[in-house]
This record gives sequence, structure tokens and C-alpha cells, in this order.
Amino acid sequence: MNIPFLDFSNMHMPISEELKNSFSRVLNRNWYLLGKELEEFESNYAAYNKTNFAVGVSNGLDALHLALQALEIGPGMEVIVPSNTYIATVLAVSYVDATPVLVEPDPQSYNIDPSKIEAAITSRTKAIMPVHLYGQACNMEEIMKMADRHELYVIEDNAQAHGATFNNKITGSWGHLNGTSFYPGKNLGALGDAGGVTTNDADLAQKVRVLRNYGSHKKYYNDVIGHNMRMDELQAAFLAVKLKHLDAWTQQRQQIASWYNETLNNAGDLILPFTTPGATHVYHLYVVQTQYRDQLQKYLTENNIGTLIHYPVPPHLQKAYAHLNHKKGDFPLAEKLADTCLSLPLWPGMEKRHVDYVSAAILNFFKTI
Ligand SMILES: Cc1ncc(COP(=O)(O)O)c(C=O)c1O
Repeated sequence: MNIPFLDFSNMHMPISEELKNSFSRVLNRNWYLLGKELEEFESNYAAYNKTNFAVGVSNGLDALHLALQALEIGPGMEVIVPSNTYIATVLAVSYVDATPVLVEPDPQSYNIDPSKIEAAITSRTKAIMPVHLYGQACNMEEIMKMADRHELYVIEDNAQAHGATFNNKITGSWGHLNGTSFYPGKNLGALGDAGGVTTNDADLAQKVRVLRNYGSHKKYYNDVIGHNMRMDELQAAFLAVKLKHLDAWTQQRQQIASWYNETLNNAGDLILPFTTPGATHVYHLYVVQTQYRDQLQKYLTENNIGTLIHYPVPPHLQKAYAHLNHKKGDFPLAEKLADTCLSLPLWPGMEKRHVDYVSAAILNFFKTI
């Protein structure tokens, strides 16, 4: 068997006619930006995400950037971000010339540890950006309480967790402004780059709409220095089709994860994903840990099983962030994850026999060490 890390075919082939119809509709309408397709997707996604507004933008990184800018976060201000995240969360803070302040993850959920946030708050802190990493909701109850106490904004990075909940409330609906990504590999992915900002606040939604479109509230009238960060009609049309299938795909992801949980229960020193009480996990990624990570990855590659590492270098050790003057040892939990984590194949359409093949290979590997 050959098991790729990610395979889109089971998602896209059954809906290929619908996707082609969307393409034809956009082509025939001759309207490619800021039109009906985007309006419709924005309203469907807002309904899905249980927020009053969703604003379609160019990608997830731009969504976070626009959210920070709309909240007027800038130079001299600090934003709390997880030490264990994809670099985009931290880059967005750099784009507005604010300072990212890193906080370690909870060692079990891998998400930012709410009990460590308070110690990182200073008089310059303006916002907390929790990331629902790998598809599991952060403890938003505690994060929102802390933010309220210190009068901070919350911007959720919901790129990896469409549809996850904490205490039954959906991620991307807790913060003042939230960013998400519709990068193709995400749980809800476009057929190219796309992203979104969600909020319940009409004024903030309008600010993001203006900022994504050159700072223009009316064609050729520019009140602020904005960007060209719009989601195009084609991606909006594709996303509207895919959104209807998201919950079914999420259920498949959760089923696949539970098969892995059963079959890998006693595999060597493997640490399996843990779900925090109150949180749901939509398994954007199924991430395990082992001290033999590099050998295991090599073994799986030799057995035609694709894996990835999310992420091999934590943001504080990236060259891009050398100016923050962090060194190895500053964020040991994020560093340990970078050294030991491995993401196993997981995609809607993956069958039990595929999971069994991956799990058997992992069990065999542990017999060899
Ligand atoms: C946690 C997180 N934040 C932000 C992003 C940025 O999204 P995009 O690739 O759409 O810019 C991603 C994905 O790439 C991500 O995983």
C-alpha cells in the first residue's frame, strides 16, 4: 500500500460536478472580485461559525494581520502568542510592528497553557492570540476571563480548527476578531489561497472590509492606508460548495483518529493526542510524540507512508526571530515537541484498512528498536 500524508481525491471527486458548475457560473458572470459569490460564502460561513460577520480575505496570515490592524495594535505593544505554533501567528504580530510574547503550551493538549498567560502580561500587552492547534479547541473560557480581567483583546487563530468547540461554543466565535485560513490542506480548504476574519462586532467587520480593499469604503475614496487582501469570487464559490460537506468530513476525521487511538494504544513510547475536558478536536492533524521520531519517520517513509512534522523549528529558534534574542532552552516544551512530534496521515476518505496498515507499520517499528 501507498498512503500519502494527505489525499484530496476523496473530498473533491464526489463533488467535482458542483465545483465545475461553480467555476462555470463565475466565468459566465464575468465578475471576479467582491461579488455575489463572496457575499454568499461570507454569510454561509458566518452562520456556520455562529458569528454575525465573516469577511473573506486572501489567506490566513492576512486574516490575522487585518484583525490586529483593525484593533489598532501597533508599535510598542505586545501580543501574547503560543511558543508552539505555525510561524504565521507570530508573523502577523510582526507585520503590525508589535512584539510577540511567547507562552509555553500545555504539555498534554499542545495548546497555549492558560495558567502561564498571566505571568506574560505587562502594561504593554494589548491582545492574546490563542491558536487551536492541530484542530483542538483551546480552553477559551479561561482565556476570555483572563482577557476581560486585564482588558485585552482576544484574536483566535482558527486556521486549523474549523468546527471545533469549547464548552459547546465554536472556535472563531469567542474572540473580538478571529482569523482563519482556507489554505487547501485545511479542514475547509479552497482550491488556492483564501482566509477569513470572523466577529460579532459590526464596526470591526466593516474596518476589516475597508482594510482588505485598499482602505477604500467607496470606490476610489480612501480613508486609510489599506491592502489588497481580498478573497476572489472563484475561491468563494468553491468554498461555498465545500462548506456543505465540512461536518461530514470532520466526522470522518474523528473516526480515523479513534481508529488510530485504538490500534496505537500500546505502541512503544508513543504519546497519542489528548483531548482537554470541555474541548472537541476536529483532527486537522493527528500528532503523536516519540523520542524515536526521526527513525520512525524514516521507517514509515520506507514503507510508503507519508508523514510530516508540525513543526520542526519553533518560532523562537527561527532565524527570522533572532532579534528577539531567544536561545535554545527558553521554551523547553515547544522545543521538545519540535524534536518528538510526528503527524500521521489523516484525510477524509481514509479507510480502516489504511489506518491498520499505518498502525501495523508503527508497531513493527517498535519491535525493531
Ligand atoms: C495556525 C496557523 N495560523 C495561520 C496560518 C496561515 O494561513 P495561510 O497559509 O492561509 O496564510 C496557518 C496555515 O498555514 C496555520 O496553520
